[in-house]
Formats: sequence, C-alpha cells, structure tokens
Amino acid sequence: MALAESDIQYLQKAIARGSGNVIREHQSYLLEARLTPVAQAAGLDDVHALVAELQRSADRKLQEAVVEAMTINETSFFRDMQPFTALQEQVLPELIDRRKTRRQLSVWSAASSSGQEAYSIAMLIRSRFPELADWRVSILATDLSEEMVKRTREGVYSQFEVNRGLPASMLVKFFERQGLNWQARPEIRQMIHAEKMNLAENWRTTARHDIVFIRNVLIYFDVPMKETILRRVHQSMQPDGYLFLGGGETLLQLDVRFERAAVGNAVCFRPTS
Ligand SMILES: C[S@@+](CC[C@H](N)C(=O)[O-])C[C@H]1O[C@@H](n2cnc3c(N)ncnc32)[C@H](O)[C@@H]1O
Repeated sequence: MALAESDIQYLQKAIARGSGNVIREHQSYLLEARLTPVAQAAGLDDVHALVAELQRSADRKLQEAVVEAMTINETSFFRDMQPFTALQEQVLPELIDRRKTRRQLSVWSAASSSGQEAYSIAMLIRSRFPELADWRVSILATDLSEEMVKRTREGVYSQFEVNRGLPASMLVKFFERQGLNWQARPEIRQMIHAEKMNLAENWRTTARHDIVFIRNVLIYFDVPMKETILRRVHQSMQPDGYLFLGGGETLLQLDVRFERAAVGNAVCFRPTS
C-alpha cells in the first residue's frame, strides 16, 4: 500500500530537520523502499507504524536512523578524475610553494561518504609529492552518517569498490589484503582523520583549510541551506584556498563569496573577500 500523504509530509519535514536534505515529491517512493528496513529493525510493521512511533516517542536514535537511511552514499576512488588532475598539476605545486615556510597543508573532504575521496587525495599526495613526507599534512573526512565515518576510519573496501577508479598500481602500493577485501595500509590511514559532522547543523570551525572538496552533496539541499553551508565553508578556508564541487554542481545564482576558476579541465572556486 502506498504511503499516506500525511506520512510523506511528516517524513519530508523530519528529514529536512535532521540533515537539510530535501526529499522531492517524485522521490517519495524512496521513503518506503529505504525506511521499511528501518521500521523492521525497530520491530515495527511498516513505514506508517514508523511514522507513528517517531511522532510518539522523540527517539533520537530512531530519528537519526531515518535520516541516515535516506542519504545517498554513492562514491568512488578518483571520482570524476579532473579535480585530482588539477590537484596534481597545479593546485598542490602552487600551495607547496606558497606554504614552504609553514610546511603545513590542510584538506577537508566534506560529505565524504565511505572515504574514497579522502583516500584518493592521500594516495595522490604520497605517490606524487614525496617532498611533503615531513610536512604536517592533514586530511579531514566528515560525513553525517556514523556508519560512513566508521568505514572511513577502517579504510576497508570490497573488490567491487577498489575496481571502481583505483589504479592497480595504487592498490598494490597502498592497500593490503584483508580476506576478500582490501584495507588501506596504516601509513595512508593515519593521514586521514574521520569525524561525524552534519553540514546542516550550526557548525563552527577554527580550522582554515587549503583545499575543500564538497562534492555531490549540495544537490540535496535547498537554496538557503546551500548558501548557509557555503558561507561557513568560506570561513573555514584559507583566502588563497581551493574549493571543488561535484561535476554538475554550480554556485550560479547563489549569494556566496566564491569566484569560479578553471584549473586545466577542472572547475574550482576561489574565496573572494
Ligand atoms: C553522494 S555522496 C557524495 C560522496 C563524495 N563527496 C563524492 O562526491 O563521491 C553524499 C554524501 O553526503 C552525505 N550527507 C548528506 N547530507 C549531509 C549533511 N547534512 N551533512 C553531512 N553529510 C551529508 C551523505 O551521508 C553521503 O555520504
């Protein structure tokens, strides 16, 4: 039986409150598909019963489970290769030159899902920039989902996942077998610090990142939330830093202080004052 309109509306609001993610009308079928397992895990008959329980109990764990179940965690190593080529050919050489006295670099992979983006950056740095070996290089990976943060910390990927985008030479060099899976070697894992972070909450950071990847997540927010998040991202970046968005994402028509810049075949955004 299709979900009642009132259940759909309640869930849309609860998800928007929890993660800022907008579930549009044509996606409402997803609610049933993804929330039935959440209902069953909570011992409830169906999604209608889940809504009734959420309304009755204010159970934070259950609310989080609903929000997490509705996130799309699609990712892969070296996804949409151009930003990584830009890092290698222009962004990192330039920042290395500018930071040669401080010898520190800070990268943030926001909404990093299971961590492939952060690991791709770590491997790129280790394989192409040996001069950074004695610098303080930090790569922060954050995501709303506890499960994704745990996966990033563990750095364990299935054969299917490593087949998606990870060159064989990097697999051999930076991963070791763990049963049927592959785990990133400790020297790569320790470059990455993974933390749970909800971009839609009122976060503040004292960090000033040189490079921010926030890809394939802004599409899930409405315009005011995109602008709020990007203003905070701006505050958490070095003035000469680089921001990378997903391939189809743009800042057009958003009231934010970034300007578009081409780096080779990649598009990135630079903070303006
Ligand atoms: C499609 S994946 C993108 C992963 C990676 N950035 C990439 O481009 O391959 C979107 C990720 O955004 C996360 N996400 C959604 N809403 C979020 C929020 N409010 N705060 C932080 N992460 C969020 C999801 O958990 C999911 O892992």
